[in-house]
Amino acid sequence: MKGIILAAGKGTRMYPMTLPVCKPLLPVYDKPLIYYPLAVLMQAGIRDILVIVPPDEMYSFIKLLGDGAGFGVNLTYRIQQEQRGIADAFLIGRNFIDGDDVCLVLGDNILCGDGLKQALHTAAAQNSGATIFGYHVDDPRPFGVVEIGPDGKALSIEEKPARPKSNYAVPGVYFYDNSVVDVAREIRPSARGELEITAVNEHYLASGQLRVVKLEPPFTWLDAGNAQSLLTAANTVMRLQQRENRLIACLEEIAWHMGYIDSGALAACAKKLEKTAYGAYLQRLCEQGK
Ligand code: G1P
Repeated sequence: MKGIILAAGKGTRMYPMTLPVCKPLLPVYDKPLIYYPLAVLMQAGIRDILVIVPPDEMYSFIKLLGDGAGFGVNLTYRIQQEQRGIADAFLIGRNFIDGDDVCLVLGDNILCGDGLKQALHTAAAQNSGATIFGYHVDDPRPFGVVEIGPDGKALSIEEKPARPKSNYAVPGVYFYDNSVVDVAREIRPSARGELEITAVNEHYLASGQLRVVKLEPPFTWLDAGNAQSLLTAANTVMRLQQRENRLIACLEEIAWHMGYIDSGALAACAKKLEKTAYGAYLQRLCEQGK
């Protein structure tokens, strides 16, 4: 299975913060936002990852993540020239996907909590249809909203409905079989001029192939799409990390646990970041061992 991170949003809802640097590179407490979706793909066991970036920003991403070898993954970069919507990721990435199944994660989504890895692995193991997630929120209107049947199949899905049929918002993590590329080719832009991911999901729903996995509390989903939600995300990450005495989305730790990098590589990362709490955390991992 391949992974795609769509990190090409200009972040217009965050101007002027995102004038010099795009949203996925902004910090969420102690690490850049893009670490969080990358951690999701890595925890799903996905190592071939396409990062879709905005024009003129590729160098900054490469400076941060390189070719992924430091985290034991293979990163490829492509530019999205124009904002054509989330489903455009499958058209930009069609050669990269190349006959495989694919997981798409949005560059501003943060998912954490016990059971995440298991939920991701289960979704990744399906080899036909689509799997999305449902997260209960008080006001789902700013999101994709899914109605879930007793068998875990979606009954309806709508993008930003004025009158939601359920309280289950759809986080920006989606698993698809290889037919997603053809589906993305068929859909047409919505009223706001975008190839909507919800239109892709509607297609799978129509053929009875849209599974929904509920992510229940204490599981946390955060969408860092505007200034307020970015701050909320940073505060939540800080609070959870302090409470649990472990880092969320620590890529080196995930890579080490997954066996993608060895203890020597982990120690080298710890040394490089030794002046930071992040580096001290890596050092502690080295000392404790697996
Ligand atoms: C997008 C999707 C929406 C999804 C959300 C998750 O919305 O269109 O279905 O629930 O991401 O973050 P956007 O952030 O583009 O408004």
